[in-house]
Amino acid sequence: MTKSKVHYICGSCGASHLRWAGRCSTCQEWNTLEEVVIRDANFSRASVGPGHSERSTILDSVHFVANKLNASIFPTGLIEFDRALGGGITPGSVTLVGGEPGIGKSTLLSQLLSNVALSGEVVLYVSAEESDNQVASRIHRVRGKEVSVGILTANNVLDIEVHVRNYRPAVVVIDSIQTIADPELASSPGSVVQVRECAARLIELAKASDIALVLVGHVTKDGSLAGPRVLEHLVDTVAYFEGDRDSSLRVLRVIKHRFGPVGDLGMFEMGESGLEDLIDATALHLVDRVAGQSGSVVFPAMDGRRVLLCEIQALVVPTSAEQPRRVVTGIDFNRFLLLLAVLEKKAGIKLHNKDVFVSIAGGVKITDPSADLAVLLAVVSSLKDIPVDPTLVCIGEIGLGGEIRLGSGEKQRLQEAVRMGFTRAVVGAKSGSEVDGQQIIKVSSLSSALVAASLHFE
Ligand code: TYD
Ligand code: MG
Repeated sequence: MTKSKVHYICGSCGASHLRWAGRCSTCQEWNTLEEVVIRDANFSRASVGPGHSERSTILDSVHFVANKLNASIFPTGLIEFDRALGGGITPGSVTLVGGEPGIGKSTLLSQLLSNVALSGEVVLYVSAEESDNQVASRIHRVRGKEVSVGILTANNVLDIEVHVRNYRPAVVVIDSIQTIADPELASSPGSVVQVRECAARLIELAKASDIALVLVGHVTKDGSLAGPRVLEHLVDTVAYFEGDRDSSLRVLRVIKHRFGPVGDLGMFEMGESGLEDLIDATALHLVDRVAGQSGSVVFPAMDGRRVLLCEIQALVVPTSAEQPRRVVTGIDFNRFLLLLAVLEKKAGIKLHNKDVFVSIAGGVKITDPSADLAVLLAVVSSLKDIPVDPTLVCIGEIGLGGEIRLGSGEKQRLQEAVRMGFTRAVVGAKSGSEVDGQQIIKVSSLSSALVAASLHFE
């Protein structure tokens, strides 16, 4: 049986089909299939069929794990990058770093390469977007001293392959995968077909030569530029570099990782000479907090496996409008309405003649329901104009009956809170957490939580 030499790739979702059709059966888009011709056997992993079995070698898994995997993860020296990736990068692995244009991907990877170069490894920065000069001056800006990083400006994937083979680098960055192209394919650079096929070639090369390959991919906010998304299943690690343009905080979020845990974050601050590691970011969002004001409660939020203390602020003011206003930022609006209903029904606190505003300082967004209790305590604190103890944190999801449920990772949240000086905590009654130096007040209902926070007296 002979294998087909042609396949059809959907320009919208990247799905591969053996036959042409007017409509892609995966994403249901019309007229998106493009013909792609497979030219040689190692063009893509999928093309390695039965006829090629002589190229494969059978390895013993014990030998492989002991000698190759464990020993090979090497730290890049960028502390927060290594933390997010479980220790560093692995030779022969492929990492996709996605993010919006201008967020700092090139800066991050220039720093990464110059760090690795300083440890004596050969590294190569392939840029298809900028001139040699621009790449070199960025490396100089973030490093500030002499460092030997190979720079190649090219956008032809075949050229890149040749240079990589000759230069023999340990780490290669391709900036970006959307701007390189295979001239033998009809599609334009950045199309799903080009992105997929160029990436497949480079991945094959990285695996065969034990190179740690980092692909940069631009993603827009609405994800409309689908390029990098089609690569997620081809690569070993997917990390997104995120941040607000108005703020200098940058977060590297790992959403897929074959060599370690997912869910960890790397946090950085963009400065004049590149990104700085934010090793202790727990109290980052509290820097502008004025302790002792009514309407303010601190909640230890979890982002990945990291604890970030957040200040929930509420403002409750009288209104004579028929429809009182409820305005929230950073929390879910419908959940907030539900919480206000529970507050009225179970704690007898009426807000029908009040406007209520809630926001989270620092533009943080929280989807975790264990912030419920902190939100309601902030509302009641503002309503009664009684400040909540500034050394108090609270964790608890509120049920429709006014009962308080436990939050996940509670002990870790409390430990971080006490480290930052929060010596009292209000938590659900079923909590088993005990933390040195912290008074833990267990409450089973919303009313008893109000009493514990000195917002209501029985
Ligand atoms: P860049 O890494 O080019 O973003 P991307 O590759 O994701 O498109 O960096 C974008 C921004 O970062 C740019 O507006 C300038 C700023 N920047 C700094 O603030 N400090 C620095 O040291 C560097 C190199 C860039
Ligand atoms: Mg860039």
